[in-house]
Amino acid sequence: ARIAILISGRGSNMQAFIDACQTGDLNAEICLVLSNKPDAAGLERAAQAGLETTCVNHKNYDSRETFDAALVHALARHEPDLVILAGFMRILTPVFIEPFAGKLLNIHPSLLPKYPGLHTHQRALTAGDAEAGVTVHYVTPELDGGPPIIQARVAVEPGDTAESLAARVIVQEHVIYPIAARWQLEGRLELTAAGARLDGAPI
Ligand code: GRF
Repeated sequence: ARIAILISGRGSNMQAFIDACQTGDLNAEICLVLSNKPDAAGLERAAQAGLETTCVNHKNYDSRETFDAALVHALARHEPDLVILAGFMRILTPVFIEPFAGKLLNIHPSLLPKYPGLHTHQRALTAGDAEAGVTVHYVTPELDGGPPIIQARVAVEPGDTAESLAARVIVQEHVIYPIAARWQLEGRLELTAAGARLDGAPI
């Protein structure tokens, strides 16, 4: 199977996919790593791992739709079976989402539906939450609002900062994201109008 990964930053989740493909945890190859930022550290990491990389810089497009069309164009010839958003910090429109519907996943560092959007760890701390976590979900046009597939929870510890909490959560991100991808590639997951299904049962 062929996986395309979209990043904007350091690419630690991308690295988890590189590792999972190397160990055989994922029976797949990464066909493309795409960044919207030319200086994303993850692009360098991907190139060093011998992966094909490309940049589609959102600053070169005058609307979200024209940017999204360029993304579709960049991905299409690689014929990905699965498209992974891994710290990709652009809001996507249906121009991109529809062609990949049902095989487009995102990871979001909160226990969705809590805290869509930015600054999730600080918001969990400010709210006094006893636990925080991370969600892998199907991407739909609603920002961070697509059906959840898998979550991991961590305890909030006394004295936690957004940074210390993020460090605890990211370890779990690297565990659950390849699991969700494996389910998807094994044909065990399905996106329906009523939500996500695993082995035919609602999640
Ligand atoms: C992760 O926390 C992910 O949940 C969020 O952006 C961050 C990306 O980190 N969407 P990395 O680039 O994968 O290291």
